[in-house]
Amino acid sequence: MQIDLSIFSTKARPLIGLDVSASAVKMVELSGGAREGFRVERYAMEPLARDVVADGNIVNLEACAEAVRKAWRRLSTPTRNVAMALPTAAVITKKIIVQSGLREDDLELQVESEANQYIPFALDEVNLDFQVAGPAPSSPDEIEVLIAASRKERVEDRVAVAEAAGLKPVVMDVESYAALAAFDLIAQRLPGGGNQIVALVDVGANSMNLTVLRNLQQVYTREQAFGGNQLTQDVARHYGMSFDEAEAAKRAGSLPDGYEAELLRPFVDTMALEVSRALQFFFTSTQFNQAHHIVLAGGCAVLPGADEAVAARTRIDTVVANPFAGMALADRVNARSLLADAPSLLVACGLALRRFDE
Ligand SMILES: Nc1ncnc2c1ncn2[C@@H]1O[C@H](COP(=O)(O)OP(=O)(O)OP(=O)(O)O)[C@@H](O)[C@H]1O
Ligand SMILES: [Mg+2]
Repeated sequence: MQIDLSIFSTKARPLIGLDVSASAVKMVELSGGAREGFRVERYAMEPLARDVVADGNIVNLEACAEAVRKAWRRLSTPTRNVAMALPTAAVITKKIIVQSGLREDDLELQVESEANQYIPFALDEVNLDFQVAGPAPSSPDEIEVLIAASRKERVEDRVAVAEAAGLKPVVMDVESYAALAAFDLIAQRLPGGGNQIVALVDVGANSMNLTVLRNLQQVYTREQAFGGNQLTQDVARHYGMSFDEAEAAKRAGSLPDGYEAELLRPFVDTMALEVSRALQFFFTSTQFNQAHHIVLAGGCAVLPGADEAVAARTRIDTVVANPFAGMALADRVNARSLLADAPSLLVACGLALRRFDE
């Protein structure tokens, strides 16, 4: 099957947000709406063995589809429609200016010819999508069009995984967009409102992402190689476990007493240092010199003491991300587990929100 890279598609409903990340398959289903309030109907996470997904590429399609199938079964929903996302690095986005008042197919042609100039692969190897952003600031006869492109196989791999698991992908978003959609919900609840400079720091399995927003608009983003796999590797080495055993023990909190002082503390301190360095770099390379809040996301945000360590090192108010904080929960959803998993569900939550797009 072929689908468009429907980054801007808005038709599908109801649907499940499905995030295939390095460490796990994550699913979220929401109901309700922006006005009456959202409700978490269900969520599920299924760990992925190492090397099933590497650098955002699905390396082992079968293992990945099996994890999706398991997660979906545990979700126990009739919904098979899913919204998925491409890794941010796999998508090229660009704003172009075209003449206003074009017919749909002329606009398409225009976008394709413009896209040719910006996209480093042959257009027939590319999924291309576009959306009119609004009138061009410089001229009343022109409009701004946002184009997004990705290599076909990146889209097809994800579609194949969903389909092998019996699901139907109806939206293909971009991870950074989805995370920002969920982040909006968090920012609204920060003291001082969204009208501030907020640093969203996502520390996952392999990578750490710093995104800075002013008035909810992204002003900076940077990724670096740092994440919880480092701690998992330390655990594996220290206790003579396999990587996957170490990962499971670390998540379950079933490691011997010495773990906290010998491995966890030093890792959390390093993480705080990395966050502080990333912010320093942001301050020195932009006109900004402060941030009002740090929102800590990703699986490493729930490590005991992580928020305190980051706050102490940076001297910036630090909270752990919970996009579900203002939502009602269905009875079947365990509030305590959701709270612990919430920081790593930003992308899945943002994707689930696509159900309510106008
Ligand atoms: N409850 C927990 N206790 C300790 N560590 C946890 C817990 N939950 C998740 N982690 C760690 O967080 C990391 C996974 O985080 P997350 O799910 O945000 O990453 P990812 O999105 O899969 O990966 P990446 O963002 O690097 O592509 C792993 O290193 C995992 O061990
Ligand atoms: Mg991640």
